[in-house]
Amino acid sequence: MSRKILVTSALPYANGSIHLGHLVEYIQTDIWVRFQKLRGHECTYVCADDAHGTAIMLKAEQNGITPEEQIANVKAEHEQDFSDFQIQFDNFHSTHSEENRELSELIYNRLVENGHIASRTITQAYDPEKELFLADRYIKGTCPKCKSEDQYGDNCEVCSATYSPTDLINPTSVISGATPIQKESEHFFFKLPEFEDFLQKWTRAGHLQTEMANKLAEWLDAGLQEWDISRDAPYFGFEIPGHPGKYFYVWLDAPIGYFASFKNLCDKTGKNWEDYCLDDGKGDPKLSNGTELYHFIGKDIVNFHALFWPAMLHSAKFRTPTAVCVHGFLTVNGKKMSKSRGTFINARTYLNHLKPDYLRYYFAAKLSNAVDDLDLNLDDFIQRVNSDLVGKVVNIASRTARFVQKSGGQLSSTIENESLWQQFVDASDTIADFYEQREFAKAMREIMNLADAANEYIAAKEPWALAKVEGNEQAVLDICTLGINMFRVITTYLKPVLPVLAANAEAFLNEELSWDKEITFKKDHTINKFKPLLNRVEKDQVEAMVEASKEALIQANSATESNSKPDSELSKEPLADEIDFNAFAKVDLRVAKIVKAAHVEGADKLLQLTLDLGGETRNVFSGIKSAYKPEDLEGKLTIMVANLAPRKMKFGLSEGMVLAAGPGGKEIYLLEPHDGAQPGMRVM
Ligand code: 2FM
Ligand code: ZN
Repeated sequence: MSRKILVTSALPYANGSIHLGHLVEYIQTDIWVRFQKLRGHECTYVCADDAHGTAIMLKAEQNGITPEEQIANVKAEHEQDFSDFQIQFDNFHSTHSEENRELSELIYNRLVENGHIASRTITQAYDPEKELFLADRYIKGTCPKCKSEDQYGDNCEVCSATYSPTDLINPTSVISGATPIQKESEHFFFKLPEFEDFLQKWTRAGHLQTEMANKLAEWLDAGLQEWDISRDAPYFGFEIPGHPGKYFYVWLDAPIGYFASFKNLCDKTGKNWEDYCLDDGKGDPKLSNGTELYHFIGKDIVNFHALFWPAMLHSAKFRTPTAVCVHGFLTVNGKKMSKSRGTFINARTYLNHLKPDYLRYYFAAKLSNAVDDLDLNLDDFIQRVNSDLVGKVVNIASRTARFVQKSGGQLSSTIENESLWQQFVDASDTIADFYEQREFAKAMREIMNLADAANEYIAAKEPWALAKVEGNEQAVLDICTLGINMFRVITTYLKPVLPVLAANAEAFLNEELSWDKEITFKKDHTINKFKPLLNRVEKDQVEAMVEASKEALIQANSATESNSKPDSELSKEPLADEIDFNAFAKVDLRVAKIVKAAHVEGADKLLQLTLDLGGETRNVFSGIKSAYKPEDLEGKLTIMVANLAPRKMKFGLSEGMVLAAGPGGKEIYLLEPHDGAQPGMRVM
């Protein structure tokens, strides 16, 4: 029976480019959707740009354009990236749309009518110059605990303390540099605690992976808070009806954007949006009006999708999701994506060097339905793609096609090995189940087992040897007909993952590959000339992509990526303000010899250095413990700021500073002068 399914991926923010971290989700969702469509279901995949919020407003300002221009530019870029990765949305809309305004107002008004919105006055940090309320991430200052400078408003990256922005010493607005003041304003809150019973049940009713349900149980047990859904002008978003100058917080209208995108599509196609979006009142937790709804998201936004969103929908008499499918983050070579290492790779940079099919297959080969992080190991990527796709799958066709071609391109009418063929037919249900459960890695393993079986069969039969002897024509054709049929089935099973490879294979096979009926053997059918379907991935292509990602960083050295979740270490450090030569000349840089280096009891990051300045000895505490062992430092020469005012630290007096570069962690590099430099020499 054909199912009616609506599927979404998280809406990307309209202030940054799509990168490989995003693509885990879009590729995962796209594979699942293509699978459903291939199986004959009515499946609709919608998405949109997440266009509202302070970050986008500021980004537009920084780019010297209006927010409308900003979101239009980014939308065009996003759509091109998605399309080039074969992410096939049925609709890609924007949260800054009339449909979304209407639906957001409708839902909000219902929440108000049901008594689920509270209002009260709160006090917040405010930038008096920019005339803007400041979220914690827009305030920096000195950590109240360890006194490290330049820490964000809610936590210290040096000592990990958490605090409120009002505790910061010398707080400043990241936007204008002004000192924030405290200012009152009225805010609106969604009364989430009133949904505790509903959410206790909903989160345990099979809509979530068990690990997510357990995580949510922790939050639910800790008690829910009311959720602030309003923001003050200036803000880029929708004004709240009846409250001029107050706007919906971006996270209120973002998920509603899923429905708005779908409604926009329905208005074009005549489909009925209510069937997929409204509650039919029958109490079936998974179906409403016979339709299903799935949200694919990352683990960082589970609270929005599995607490606030179902509660809002429930109050507003909209349907709740059939399932929220959560995935983990992407790491590259076992670490967070990093701009300095060239592993923070934008979609476009990847496409400039490599084919999308490779990444789609690699992600599929590693994805399960668990919330684990997924590692893109670049060496493994090359090896896996070449060995599986080129070495196994494409090889089946390239070893057999020419013999069919030789005998006129027509497949034979016999199945040379019935039991082997049956194995390919029987695998269909298992592989389909794995796709349905989002166990893509398991599906890929089954498919590669089939490819191994096909290759073993061909290797054992050696059609190329048989073909040398006259009179074997039929036997060779029978073997190769089975070979081509096995290739057909494997390509059919891979079609959701590799749409381009499948399309090229379809041209060669002279048929459209479908999987909505039983798998049948293709006999007496004419195929076309075989053309190479996929090239090997070369190491230098991957290296060039990594290099290009490093270059992109240099070009964008002062760009801020306020919404990028992976580590964007260097981008957190925009170039400092210009100083004049006199100011620079005041800095007394000297060559210093590290005569002693030691651990500091109770300090996570610091080493205590005893420095010889050519006669004078200085004590300096330096945050380089993550990168150096004390014993490796003793005897080394380095550069120090010799005239820095001494600073009293928890562990003692620090009399200067040594110079080092790098993003942090193991990658801190102490600057070392060339041979011949002597302690005490001035650095010019
Ligand atoms: O985290 C993000 O990137 C958000 N823009 C996702 C929004 S998903 C949905 F709720 F709109
Ligand atoms: Zn601190």
